[in-house]
Amino acid sequence: MRVLVTGGGGYIGSVLVRRLLDKGHAVRVVDRLYWGMAPLAEVLPRIEVVHADIRDARDEWFTGIDGIVHLAGLSNDPTANFDPEANWQMNAVATAEIAAACLRAGVQRFVFGSSCSLYDGLPDGATYDEDAPIAPRGPYAESKRYAEESLLQMAADGFCPVILRQGTVYGVSPRMRLDLVVNTFVKDALTQGRLLLHGGGWMSRPLVDVQDAADAQITALEAPADAVRGQIFNVVQDNYQIRDLAMQVAESVGQAHGSVAINMAPEPALVRNYRCANDKLYDTLGFRPARGVTQSVDEMVAAFGGMDTARLAHPRYYNLDWLVLLTEAHAGLRPFGYVLRRGEGARVSE
Ligand SMILES: NC(=O)c1ccc[n+]([C@@H]2O[C@H](COP(=O)([O-])OP(=O)(O)OC[C@H]3O[C@@H](n4cnc5c(N)ncnc54)[C@H](O)[C@@H]3O)[C@@H](O)[C@H]2O)c1
Repeated sequence: MRVLVTGGGGYIGSVLVRRLLDKGHAVRVVDRLYWGMAPLAEVLPRIEVVHADIRDARDEWFTGIDGIVHLAGLSNDPTANFDPEANWQMNAVATAEIAAACLRAGVQRFVFGSSCSLYDGLPDGATYDEDAPIAPRGPYAESKRYAEESLLQMAADGFCPVILRQGTVYGVSPRMRLDLVVNTFVKDALTQGRLLLHGGGWMSRPLVDVQDAADAQITALEAPADAVRGQIFNVVQDNYQIRDLAMQVAESVGQAHGSVAINMAPEPALVRNYRCANDKLYDTLGFRPARGVTQSVDEMVAAFGGMDTARLAHPRYYNLDWLVLLTEAHAGLRPFGYVLRRGEGARVSE
């Protein structure tokens, strides 16, 4: 297949691009490249990269494309809260516009990187499947809901949207993120020899490894249209209570680097506590995320092992810190809003 990956320079996207190539697919990436070209450097000779903003979609991006995996946009609550309007334009409006462009170009398969955080506002204690009445909390989840609804409304014979609600992702990527719960624990264990357990860590979260997330996207791309058209799938390896997660990370990192303490800390302002079922993906498409936390933590420890761990504090590993820095850095050079807002000066066409 010829696959367009929006956000292909990101944490999940840069893993997905490699796995698509490994499977013999041709890849075009559209990305604003907030984290630069480095995550794609190694595969650059084998892919096409369009350095552009998804809010400025052009018909030529979709020429010759068989399917799209749409991942670009703001990818967590803090960045969406930092600029809710930009988040809405990227995550909600641009997703609908890109789907419309796919329809015009005859690109039928549209795999969307949504989020299990849509279940966040539902009552605690249950494990929710894809039929649950979702309850988004905050600009990020609201924008994902709008995008999902726009896509599902378009499902028809000639258009096959597939929604993948991904749990919080962990594991090694060429574009590393350390602002995701497991990855943050690994970084804290390595750099400070201790983990902070906020509010006792009684809350649960659905989690999935980054390679499994990418493989779920490829499975959704390759599946027969009738099996996936207009379907929503949770992409989750398992639900983990944060205190259990902390103990697993402390043990894994401890084995390689000496003991890791687990310290109690006050409850965070925003408590996120939800659990999701993962049966539908397996029952429908025969794919179940299998790479558990321990395996991925060991891989992260090995990947960071030889490096000066002080480097793990660099803002580029934390989406909010990085986008705030970029915004400040461009403030004197470009028109206001260059980094996150659309408009004159926000176009990147090189
Ligand atoms: N990482 C997770 O735990 C997780 C969980 C659930 C859902 N998701 C979703 O999966 C997708 C990918 O997440 P990620 O962790 O790889 O995020 P990321 O922030 O690492 O990557 C996003 C990519 O999109 C690009 N981008 C951002 N805004 C853009 C724009 N306006 N135009 C063009 N490119 C733009 C960035 O440059 C970056 O390369 C996101 O949609 C996110 O909401 C992620």
